[in-house]
Amino acid sequence: MFDPTLNWPLIVPSLLAADAAMLLRDAEAARRGGAAMLHLDVMDGHFVPNLSFGPQTCASLARAGSLPLDVHLMVENPLDFVDMFAAGGAYVLTVHAEIGAEAALAALRRIHELGIHAGLSFKPGTPVREAVPFLPYADLILLMTVEPGHGGQSFLPGSLERIRELRGILDQGGFDCRIEIDGGVRADNIAACAEAGTDLFVTGSAAFGASPEETEKQVRELRRKIDAGR
Ligand code: DX5
Ligand code: ZN
Repeated sequence: MFDPTLNWPLIVPSLLAADAAMLLRDAEAARRGGAAMLHLDVMDGHFVPNLSFGPQTCASLARAGSLPLDVHLMVENPLDFVDMFAAGGAYVLTVHAEIGAEAALAALRRIHELGIHAGLSFKPGTPVREAVPFLPYADLILLMTVEPGHGGQSFLPGSLERIRELRGILDQGGFDCRIEIDGGVRADNIAACAEAGTDLFVTGSAAFGASPEETEKQVRELRRKIDAGR
């Protein structure tokens, strides 16, 4: 269970869009703008056609940074890595349901054994109702609003309906599970996503700008858009 006293819903900038040579500088700018956590995309070149950060980056950021790390494992065998990311200071570890129900459940259980928040992610093409059997084992469900693998893509049509559907399932079932979305979240669609029932907004290209000042301003604007709709 997440801390209910946090300033929900939360903005979680995705470091994939930050300057890789200036991760800490950009992370601190996002924090000043109102970010609550940092999103770290981990890609293995198999589950998705791209490569990104590893457990060493997670550990360095956790040691030096001030925001909790929300680690998104886009990998085929998360059980090979969850212990390393837990040791590296991850706050949330999220695996994908598309690796198979048994493997996903085993990973969720191991993440909880390690004392970390556990998330389960669904690609845009996977029906939302497939989340139901996992809800007792997950602290959050991450609905991908783009096909995973790259930043800077457009928010997919039909995503608002998926958020509303999941919101309905969680509220009717009384599940203490949060909804996170990831991909194409921008200042012009974040209020509608909030209204649909989102709790955590991953945002990369709309959060990180050409300078730390720009980043702080952009994250503050996203925060203002959410708060304006409340
Ligand atoms: C994509 C990643 C996202 C991505 C979001 O596979 O999981 O976290 O970095 O970036 P934007 O907000 O630019 O779509
Ligand atoms: Zn992500």
